[in-house]
Amino acid sequence: MKQALISPSPGLIHTQNPFSSSFKPQLNTHSILFFKPIASSSLQYRSPILNQIRTMALSNIKSNRWSLQGMTALVTGGTRGIGRAIVEEVGGLGARVHTCSRNENELDKALVDWKSLGFEVSGSICDVSIAAQRQSLMETVSSLFDCKLNILINNVGTNIRKPMVDFTAEEVSTLLATNFESVFNLCQLAYPLLKTSGSGSVVFTSSVSGFVSLKSMSLQGATKGAINQLTRNLACEWAKDNIRSNAVAPWYIRTSMVEQVLSSKEYLEEVYSRTPLGRLGDPTEVSSLVAFLCLPASSYITGQIICVDGGMSVNGFYPTNY
Ligand SMILES: NC(=O)c1ccc[n+]([C@@H]2O[C@H](COP(=O)([O-])OP(=O)(O)OC[C@H]3O[C@@H](n4cnc5c(N)ncnc54)[C@H](OP(=O)(O)O)[C@@H]3O)[C@@H](O)[C@H]2O)c1
Repeated sequence: MKQALISPSPGLIHTQNPFSSSFKPQLNTHSILFFKPIASSSLQYRSPILNQIRTMALSNIKSNRWSLQGMTALVTGGTRGIGRAIVEEVGGLGARVHTCSRNENELDKALVDWKSLGFEVSGSICDVSIAAQRQSLMETVSSLFDCKLNILINNVGTNIRKPMVDFTAEEVSTLLATNFESVFNLCQLAYPLLKTSGSGSVVFTSSVSGFVSLKSMSLQGATKGAINQLTRNLACEWAKDNIRSNAVAPWYIRTSMVEQVLSSKEYLEEVYSRTPLGRLGDPTEVSSLVAFLCLPASSYITGQIICVDGGMSVNGFYPTNY
C-alpha cells in the first residue's frame, strides 16, 4: 500500500506543497462565485462579528455543495486514461482517494506525480477480475478510511473486439469477470462502508455500447448494458441508506485502450463523421461529470446513465451535402 501527501483545501488550487514557505495559494473560480453574492448582500448585522459569522456560514453552505473535502473515494483503474482523470478530479475537489491497477511501476510513478501535486492518494496493486484481490483491496480501503467510504468509482473495464461467433469460452469469462463480475462484487464489498459513511455515491464507467450497437462489441456492449441496469437497481435498493448510484457512458475518449483502433486514419474519419461535435473526447470531459455525480450538488440525482459522447448516441440522419 502506497500513500502520498496533503489534500487541497476547498477554493484553493495547490500546485506546490502548501506547507512550503514559497507556497502561493490561488483562488479558483468556485471561490470567486461563492464570495461575490455574499459580499454584495444587503442583509447586515450591527455587529461586525455577527456579519463575519454569517458570511462564513453562508460560504460554508455554498462551498460544501461543490466540495468533496472530508470525503473518501475508491477509484478502480486510476493509473491511466479516464480513471487517472477521475483520481485527479476527485482529489482536486478535496477527497482522499485510494486507487488500484495491476502494473506496480506505473502505479508507483502515478503516486509520485500525485504527491507532487499535493493530492492525498494511496494505491494498491490489484487485479479486480480476481475475487481474492478484490477482497484484500476492500480490506485495505476499510482500514485506511476507518470503515467509511463515500465514493466508489467502478472504472475498470476492458474490451475484446471480434464477431460474437468467434469468442472463445475463455475470452467470454475474461470479459465478464473484468467488466461485470468485478463491479458487482466490489459493490457488495463496499456496501457496509458506503452505508457507514452516511452519504454514499457509486459511479460506474459504462459506455455508449450499452445503448447502441457497435461493430465487434457484442459482448462488451452486453456487459455495459448490464451495468446500466445495475445502476438503476442499486439506486432503488440503496436509496434507504442514502447511497446514490449513477453511470457515465462515454463514446470514443482518447486513452490507451482505444489507441490502436484509432490509429487508422480512415476509421478515425468515420468516428468524426458519426459524432456531431466532430472530435474525440478527452478523459477530463468524463471525469468532470463523474465528480459532479459525487458532489453534494447532485444529491437528488440517482439511477441515471449519462452519455459523454459528443452527441453520438442521439445522432440521427444529417447528410452533409443536402
Ligand atoms: N476510452 C474510451 O474510448 C472508452 C469508451 C467507453 C467506455 N470506456 C470505459 O472507460 C473505462 C476506462 O477506460 P480507459 O479507456 O480509461 O482504459 P485504459 O486507458 O486502458 O486504462 C485502464 C485503467 O484500468 C487499469 N486496469 C485495467 N484492467 C484492470 C484490472 N483487471 N484490474 C485493475 N486495474 C485494471 C489499468 O491499469 P493496468 O493495466 O496497469 O491494470 C488502467 O489504469 C473502462 O471501463 C472502459 O470500458 C472507455
